[in-house]
Amino acid sequence: MATRKPAPPAFVCTECGWTTAKWVGRCGECQQWGTVSEQAAPTGFLRRMTPLAPHADRAARPITQITTEDAPRRTSGVGEFDRVLGGGIVPGAAILLSGEPGVGKSTLLLEVAAQSARAGRRVLYASAEESPAQVRLRAERTGALHDELYLASETDLATILGHIDEVRPQLVIVDSVQTVSSSLTDGAAGQPSQVREVAATLIRVAKERSLPIIIVGHVTKDGQVAGPRVLEHLVDVVCHFEGDRQTSLRFIRALKNRFGPTDEVGCFEMTGGGIAEVPDPSGLFLSQGATEPGTCVAIALEGKRALPVEVQALTIPSSAPNPRRVVHGLDASRVAMVLAILEKRASIKTSMLDVYVSTVGGVRFTEPAADLAIAIAVAGSVQLNSVPRTVAAVGELSLAGEIRPVTQAAQRRSEAARLGYEQVVDDRSKTLRAALNDVRARNTNRRPDGEIPPF
Ligand SMILES: Nc1ncnc2c1ncn2[C@@H]1O[C@H](COP(=O)(O)OP(=O)(O)OP(=O)(O)O)[C@@H](O)[C@H]1O
Ligand SMILES: [Mg+2]
Repeated sequence: MATRKPAPPAFVCTECGWTTAKWVGRCGECQQWGTVSEQAAPTGFLRRMTPLAPHADRAARPITQITTEDAPRRTSGVGEFDRVLGGGIVPGAAILLSGEPGVGKSTLLLEVAAQSARAGRRVLYASAEESPAQVRLRAERTGALHDELYLASETDLATILGHIDEVRPQLVIVDSVQTVSSSLTDGAAGQPSQVREVAATLIRVAKERSLPIIIVGHVTKDGQVAGPRVLEHLVDVVCHFEGDRQTSLRFIRALKNRFGPTDEVGCFEMTGGGIAEVPDPSGLFLSQGATEPGTCVAIALEGKRALPVEVQALTIPSSAPNPRRVVHGLDASRVAMVLAILEKRASIKTSMLDVYVSTVGGVRFTEPAADLAIAIAVAGSVQLNSVPRTVAAVGELSLAGEIRPVTQAAQRRSEAARLGYEQVVDDRSKTLRAALNDVRARNTNRRPDGEIPPF
């Protein structure tokens, strides 16, 4: 009689769920080291499983017979956060907020908590990273003290669930998923199996009780949410909070949103008194003084928002064997390409000059749409020709010196018109040389001899 071979053990990657019959040190799917571990093979279990008749309430039904309850969104009280969420917080939504250390995640969520409390909705803020006294100090500084804002400093998941039962909040904030652990799972807090268990349990509670839960997530060095990749699949919304350490400006954007679009961006400023919304950031990245040769305004896109960003260039004769190229806020390789195009296609030579190019306000503007503004700014600095304040430039440059159209050009033009820019130099000028001549014709800064400086 033939004996049945026992089913081989299954090894599963705790990061991405990839399975293999043999143990390997590195996951064949997500390429992470040391994440593959043995788990009881489900094959026998599946073979033995007998179908169950579902309860009448849970029977599969034709989609047309399913009634929809319009999920009413509740405003979080922070307009810029609502904008990113698609209008507000949906009951039962699980929202993951990720961001680099110190970017201001706890400050933002404390503000959301305070606003909800002020609107009469009780909030439980479970902080596993900071003591209640630390959070209270921050709340005093940012004006977030309120009786309906409950605070628990707790790292054990079961105790947090107990607090939810006791406090009966209408919004829960867990800061952060990597520092909470469950006694039902092995390993220390922050390990993939723990993060998955904690997130899955919180999400189940959110769904069962229609209770929105906001979970803070740490990021790895390369900006990914730390922990298993499935975390992003489990939650309904993934928001990323970002900003340059040098500046106080912060942006929040949705990377995934089951209840709304992902192309909205919220803008904030970190201040001593907490986090302040910046509903109209259009003036933040412009200089205030008179126009100097070597500046040009471009219209950048941040999600759905069009923002004017001033590009500044300074060129001076170089004393070094290799002229310096210093770039801030822009893509250095694109700047190098634009310098080459200027030299070859518009006869503006920079190979013997030190070139400094920067955005105003430290904003990052790495879209190809910045090319034309970089070219006009550098040409202006070389030829001492200033661009009038009423002119903006948007366009990608091809190596042949042609101007290529950019994405959402109509939206950028309408935002430019709203902000008072009379002319937007773009792909309608066809070539870089034509665009430079066009800007030159508008120049009102004549030289002492009455001549308009050439481009
Ligand atoms: N007294 C203060 N005055 C002004 N700004 C402050 C003050 N204290 C903290 N900040 C700002 O708040 C930031 C820290 O914010 P917060 O603790 O919310 O960040 P986080 O993203 O939660 O950090 P972590 O990942 O460490 O939890 C600091 O980087 C600093 O810019
Ligand atoms: Mg924090």
